[in-house]
Amino acid sequence: MRKILVDNILQSIRSGIVVLDYQGIIVYANSPALKILGLDEDELVGKSWWELFYHISELNQVIVDVIGEEKLNLHREISYVSPTNQRCQLSITTSFLHETKTVAGIIVQLDDITELAQLRRREKLMSEERQRLSSEMVDSMKKISLSVAHVILNPVASIGGFVRLMMKKIGGDHPLRQYLEHIDDSAGRLENIVKSFKEYTDIKSVHYETIYLSSLIEGVRSKIETIANKLGKHIRYHADIKDHVTAQLDPALFSMAMDEIIMNSIESIEDGPGEIDITVYKAACGLVVEIRDTGTGIDDRHIPYAFDPFFTTKTSNNGMGLFKAKKVITEHLGTITLVRREVVGTKVIIQLPETNMTTQ
Ligand SMILES: Nc1ncnc2c1ncn2[C@@H]1O[C@H](COP(=O)(O)OP(=O)(O)OP(=O)(O)O)[C@@H](O)[C@H]1O
Ligand SMILES: [Mg+2]
Repeated sequence: MRKILVDNILQSIRSGIVVLDYQGIIVYANSPALKILGLDEDELVGKSWWELFYHISELNQVIVDVIGEEKLNLHREISYVSPTNQRCQLSITTSFLHETKTVAGIIVQLDDITELAQLRRREKLMSEERQRLSSEMVDSMKKISLSVAHVILNPVASIGGFVRLMMKKIGGDHPLRQYLEHIDDSAGRLENIVKSFKEYTDIKSVHYETIYLSSLIEGVRSKIETIANKLGKHIRYHADIKDHVTAQLDPALFSMAMDEIIMNSIESIEDGPGEIDITVYKAACGLVVEIRDTGTGIDDRHIPYAFDPFFTTKTSNNGMGLFKAKKVITEHLGTITLVRREVVGTKVIIQLPETNMTTQ
């Protein structure tokens, strides 16, 4: 009864099952196995697996690996051509046949995955094609936007120039002056937008140099002092960084990103004295640069958009600063995040991968 049951089950499943003894002689094959391999029972059962498939090295290798290395549940995918020249893609999974505690043979499960393999191949081709199209689209978008920016810059600059000339000619109390001032303002804004867009597209590839972070951050100190003085703001600055920490960075690009972040901090400190702190430390992920300020802080709802182009909560800014900073950090294979500090202000966290870090 048990044998009939096992026989019936083995014949009714979709997978091909072939059983070999330990010498590699085929002792059993169900009908799906015969169909998949394109062989009759008497061409298979009683024959040596090695001799039968001597010409298909991958098929032999599976059994060599199972026996030689006692690898359980070995899985391979191979191309198979049957004696009647039918090509198919086979999935082979092997396991051991146990009799009490000893291994009596090897079970080979065969599945015809030709359709699946074709589907996978088609899917791979489609995804490659999608990627190609999307990178082509990004490239042409970049080219178009760069040309548009280039073409816009000259007329905008000349509008600004002529408006300023007109204002000079008509004098201070002419009734049209306020309109001209408005045009001048708008032309200036447009010019800035195009310029920062061009700056963004100019961030192309990173030219790494070994940089002492302490000297790079020292440059930030003098910039903060100059800008704060100009704006009449009282800002205390503090940096916590070991002198010997060096990193592989593009100094010009990284300084540009730091300038944008620091400018935001300065702008966020509205009245009264404020503080900007920079800490650099090593972490499991690599190098971390934290910039903390005691400014107005960022609204949680704005955080997801802060790195988007043209996102700004300020009246006369373009919203391109963090967009550029993110591009610089991403080009360095790092990440940049912005968080609201618990009590007051904002914290920007830059993480650079370990490869960017060197310690002398
Ligand atoms: N340190 C900060 N404190 C508070 N808000 C910030 C801070 N940094 C960024 N933000 C918020 O994120 C927005 C986007 O910043 P981003 O630097 O990209 O643009 P922006 O400063 O408005 O304009 P731009 O940098 O082009 O002059 C800001 O408008 C502000 O709302
Ligand atoms: Mg900014």
